[in-house]
Amino acid sequence: MPIRPATADTIAAAAEVLRAGGLVAFPTETVYGLGADATNARAVAGIFAAKGRPRFNPLIVHVAEAADAARFAIVDRRAEVLAAAFWPGALTMVLVKSAACPIADLATAGLDTIAVRVPSHRSAQALIRAAGVPIAAPSANRSGHVSPTTPAHVEADLGDKVDTILDDGPTAVGIESTVVDLSGPAPTLLRAGGIASEAIEAILGVALPRGTHDAERPASPGQLASHYAPRAAVRLDATSARPGEALLAFGPAVPGHDGPVVNLSPSGDTIEAAANLFAALRQLDAAGVTTIAVMPIPDTGLGEAINDRLRRAAAR
Ligand code: TXA
Ligand code: MG
Repeated sequence: MPIRPATADTIAAAAEVLRAGGLVAFPTETVYGLGADATNARAVAGIFAAKGRPRFNPLIVHVAEAADAARFAIVDRRAEVLAAAFWPGALTMVLVKSAACPIADLATAGLDTIAVRVPSHRSAQALIRAAGVPIAAPSANRSGHVSPTTPAHVEADLGDKVDTILDDGPTAVGIESTVVDLSGPAPTLLRAGGIASEAIEAILGVALPRGTHDAERPASPGQLASHYAPRAAVRLDATSARPGEALLAFGPAVPGHDGPVVNLSPSGDTIEAAANLFAALRQLDAAGVTTIAVMPIPDTGLGEAINDRLRRAAAR
């Protein structure tokens, strides 16, 4: 059983595993990540192998504080302003790589840009500091699957492929970080996520255009149309569930249904719904239904990220 409660001792041991080139799954405030030393090409290759991830899809590099990002990326004024507002936290910035960037090319898929994040989670912070190296970490699921929000989710997908899964309970945000591309003249939103795009726009003082989603060359390659795929089909904007379906509900007014039902937020709160989303998809998928019917969710706040993930789950 690679699941170990996150304590000072297990974090120190996990940091040693990372320094030796191994893989460690660890909690962040968004989802569990599958970490490796970002400066070690062989270790990073291990992430792609374990996940079955396409090599053109670059990884996020995690550091303990904003100042560390300047060691491998060009942090301009806009990036400084966003870092001050949202780091540590669920924001990933895509920046231009610096000339002497020590990060393995495989981690950035050979791009001249790099995605950087400073997580706020106490165990993630402790692990990064103990390892003393930047940590490349995608979500700790098999490629194309729903992201893990509990250690059990990680074990189900990757249990035989990681040395250690650090257990610090379910993640608070429940949905991946928001990815903003600052490598060009105008910031763009590459992935809606745990920080509402409205909050980022308010700080930047400009509207964030959504990145183009070219199926062949996606701006953020993880944004392939079919992602987050449960086994069951997903039917969006359902006003009721049909016999044999499961119902993923939202809000106080839920239609009666004689089958599995999970309500993401009975009070209609998108923050609560985001925290519950991936576990709910896994739970309903495990019920063995052929289709998960999903009630409409407002597109504001974290609803934008939730609807993005649900559309991808439905696209097959
Ligand atoms: O919350 C999160 O972001 C979690 C935790 C573990 O930090 N990580 C995560 O990683 O969701 P991953 O690999 O599942 O998603 C990273 C996203 C992908 O869509 C990837 O294509 C994009 O970031 N990305 C990474 N580097 C990029 C780059 N240089 N340019 C554009 N997109 C990039
Ligand atoms: Mg992922």
